[in-house]
Amino acid sequence: MSEIIYGSIISQECKDQLKAKVEAIKKQGLRIPKLVVILVGDHIASVTYVKNKEKACSYVGMESEVIRFDASITEEMLIEEIKRCNQEPSIDGILVQLPLPSHINKDRVLRAITPDKDVDGFHPEHIGNLLLGLDGMISCTPYGILKLLQSIPNFSLKGKHVVVMGRSNIVGKPVAALMLQQDASVSIVHAKSENIEAITQLADVLIVAIGKAKLIGKQYIKKGAVVIDVGMNKDENGKLCGDVDFDQVAPLCSYITPVPKGVGPMTIAMLLENTFQAYLQHERG
Ligand code: GUN
Repeated sequence: MSEIIYGSIISQECKDQLKAKVEAIKKQGLRIPKLVVILVGDHIASVTYVKNKEKACSYVGMESEVIRFDASITEEMLIEEIKRCNQEPSIDGILVQLPLPSHINKDRVLRAITPDKDVDGFHPEHIGNLLLGLDGMISCTPYGILKLLQSIPNFSLKGKHVVVMGRSNIVGKPVAALMLQQDASVSIVHAKSENIEAITQLADVLIVAIGKAKLIGKQYIKKGAVVIDVGMNKDENGKLCGDVDFDQVAPLCSYITPVPKGVGPMTIAMLLENTFQAYLQHERG
């Protein structure tokens, strides 16, 4: 039987460390780090995610501001607002909650955020740095996954075969680059891949980010693998579940993350960490 890696516990430790750092800043009478979240429309999951981000900022003592726009906002107006936030010295991090309405070009919007405030790590400059193995902001979910893997006792990614399922710009591509940076051998499989099971069965670490409820059953798993489930879906009963069929897969794994309480809370903790790092850089000038 596997051990469960609780992101809920590890993220709490990260947040408590940050809280102590923010308290120390407050005691010195210095400026407090600030995150701005831009929310366009009222996509139900996005509204919940944004609330959780606000709650987490408040927990660690950082300032946060949510700027809400109607779904009908034009791309130009949204970019104008981002440019204003880029110039505002009291703001350290800017996050535009995705998805955006279809009339807005997401890539143009994300590129408008100045890289030193792009705490999502989505800007091409950060993704490029990650591929080149240079310092930069690491996207929050990949960064959280790395922290989860580093929490496994006596475990090293060096030389391990990591298989990433999914090739999104938010998770699949950056997590693959990050794993490569950790000296793992990396394969990426996606909707067009052939013989997917034959590839995932070779994985020492399987990272699943496909957005399909409980699709991954035991036929995909090598015995003793570490399984990281990035999925956040609703099952047939409306209950939150991952991309992995936990009950079927868990008995085969050495370690597995649950949904909820797995990767999700780590993403938010790493967003706070990135905001704090951006703050330190801004303060150092
Ligand atoms: N929507 C779902 N996940 C994310 C994320 O990590 N960042 C942003 N900006 N939007 C998201």
